[in-house]
Amino acid sequence: MSEVISVLHDKGGCAKTTTAVNLGFALWLLGKKVLLVDTDPQCNLTDTVDKTVHKEADSTIYEWLHDEGQHASLPLPIYTRYDGLDYIPGSHSMSNINAELQLMYNRERRLADFLNLVDPETQLPICEMYDYVFVDCAPGGETLMNTNALVASDHVIVPTEAGIYSLQGLPRLLAYIDKVRSQLRCNVSIMGYLLIRWNANRQISREVKAYYSNPEEVRAPLFPVQIRECVRCTESVAHEMSLFEYAPDSTAADDYMRIAEYIIGRKVRPKSWTPMKWGQLANAAFKRFIAERGA
Ligand SMILES: Nc1ncnc2c1ncn2[C@@H]1O[C@H](COP(=O)(O)OP(=O)(O)O)[C@@H](O)[C@H]1O
Ligand SMILES: [Mg+2]
Repeated sequence: MSEVISVLHDKGGCAKTTTAVNLGFALWLLGKKVLLVDTDPQCNLTDTVDKTVHKEADSTIYEWLHDEGQHASLPLPIYTRYDGLDYIPGSHSMSNINAELQLMYNRERRLADFLNLVDPETQLPICEMYDYVFVDCAPGGETLMNTNALVASDHVIVPTEAGIYSLQGLPRLLAYIDKVRSQLRCNVSIMGYLLIRWNANRQISREVKAYYSNPEEVRAPLFPVQIRECVRCTESVAHEMSLFEYAPDSTAADDYMRIAEYIIGRKVRPKSWTPMKWGQLANAAFKRFIAERGA
């Protein structure tokens, strides 16, 4: 069974894209088939995963969402980064999508309908071709595009920075998800809050963790692993790479790997693996792939 997971928060800069990319890579390295979908007009996810594979002229998520008439003539906008790790690129034109969706009769279900289109090669609905589909959302809260992401998803991951703004935004986010669930009759639920830029020495980090550990306040679990503050995250973005390509032995890569194991529901790595060992294995996997495919 495939799971569609949106990475959503009102705020920009709270590691939505970092989380979608690196959790996607971690699950893929653990042997799962993964699709990454970029719905943010800033296209940060696309910049990270899209190398020479996708060309400017090829279709993106945008053409499929905004034009109801063209589906039959367009190839599906699915591109392969590594075998088993695919992505649907975003487009800067997605800055128009909320206004355009307004005029469509199925305006909240465009993404869900798209992910259920049957792939001509495999004869499977797109989402069923993968174990995990990650939808990287744009900031800005209650937009029609984010509503589309919620309607298409089984779960939401909420990356949360240890700071006051993330707390202030939470009631709004919970009310939004409730409204989508009840009015659009979908079953999306919060898989968990993921604390990012974690620093156990900071009082604010510990206070925010205590707040999110109270299920009555936040109504969903806190992931049992925090993503530590890690300069390699920022560097990897500058190099347009995932953490697993740029710094597989970094603390944040290890944290994302442990979240991936938590999502799968069991420990996948042998106990003897240290982050350094993991880095070596990841590097070898990439080198092998690149040698085989010339990607
Ligand atoms: N654990 C971390 N430690 C340090 N910097 C991080 C961490 N996670 C993300 N960042 C940095 O924060 C910035 C914003 O992250 P990004 O994923 O683009 O946020 P969003 O998609 O929510 O706008 C990026 O420069 C990223 O490298
Ligand atoms: Mg982003």
